[in-house]
Amino acid sequence: MQIHDKVAVVTGASSGIGLAIATQLAEKGARAIGVVDISAHCQATAAAINRQVGGEVAQPFCGDVRAAEFRAEVFAQMEKIGGEVVRICVPAAGILRDALAVKMNHDRGQAELYAESLFREVLAVNLLHPVYWAMQMMARIIEQRAAQNLKKWQPSEPIQGCSVLLGSVSSRGNRGQISYACAKAALNAAAKTLHIEGMYHGMQSKVVHPGVVNTPMSAQLPAGHFETHMKSLVALGRMIEPQEIAAAVCLLIENPAISGPLWADAGMQPMA
Ligand SMILES: NC(=O)c1ccc[n+]([C@@H]2O[C@H](COP(=O)([O-])OP(=O)(O)OC[C@H]3O[C@@H](n4cnc5c(N)ncnc54)[C@H](O)[C@@H]3O)[C@@H](O)[C@H]2O)c1
Repeated sequence: MQIHDKVAVVTGASSGIGLAIATQLAEKGARAIGVVDISAHCQATAAAINRQVGGEVAQPFCGDVRAAEFRAEVFAQMEKIGGEVVRICVPAAGILRDALAVKMNHDRGQAELYAESLFREVLAVNLLHPVYWAMQMMARIIEQRAAQNLKKWQPSEPIQGCSVLLGSVSSRGNRGQISYACAKAALNAAAKTLHIEGMYHGMQSKVVHPGVVNTPMSAQLPAGHFETHMKSLVALGRMIEPQEIAAAVCLLIENPAISGPLWADAGMQPMA
């Protein structure tokens, strides 16, 4: 699907990968982009993207992706602003709450389990709500097609919409990431299910699995951790830049022949 002239929504767009994706969508001529983030910085982000492309393309929405009313409002506003339904959705907001699944507390003489509250929080932000943002786009496209009395999508029609979910190499399982790894692995099933259901209406849903990307999220690693423990596992020998992941996301949107998960991991081997 062409990005040019489409209305898009990107979550987690104030930072790292989301910011790079929103910027590249703007550079590729998207008509309007909802820049969604819990950080108040999203106002400044949208302004910076607009300065860069020399137009009023980016619209800031400051809020929590877990709030259903906020999500509905973003889609309604973007449809009004763009004069068209949202056809690109990249729910990139994500969090880490890393800890061992079970850790021995020697002082207490007991092994402690990873907190269930953290597990639920990570599943909510990294799995449940990205899927709901993608589903919200599907809903409006299905409603619009129904209003036009359109039935099953035909290959002679253009692709109607595309969502790209942000997975991770950690979806293969990773030490210290029980909640994050589960959330990211489940996105494969979500993307595939939405793709199969969505193609009846001409919509695609895909997932990209980045390796270690140079963003504030990876900066949460202990100092020197990448150089000491991870670099040797990465064939490319360096962190991936967020712009490289954004280019992979744009490729997934633009190329309808790609349906499966895309590994943008710089040749990273699973950690032992
Ligand atoms: N950085 C990496 O190495 C890496 C690797 C693989 C996958 N990913 C995934 O890519 C995506 C982007 O990661 P990043 O590295 O750019 O992270 P980042 O921390 O730089 O940016 C994440 C953004 O999401 C926002 N956010 C978090 N919770 C939110 C909420 N509840 N509501 C709204 N916004 C919220 C944050 O404010 C932040 O701006 C995430 O889904 C992450 O899991 C990152």
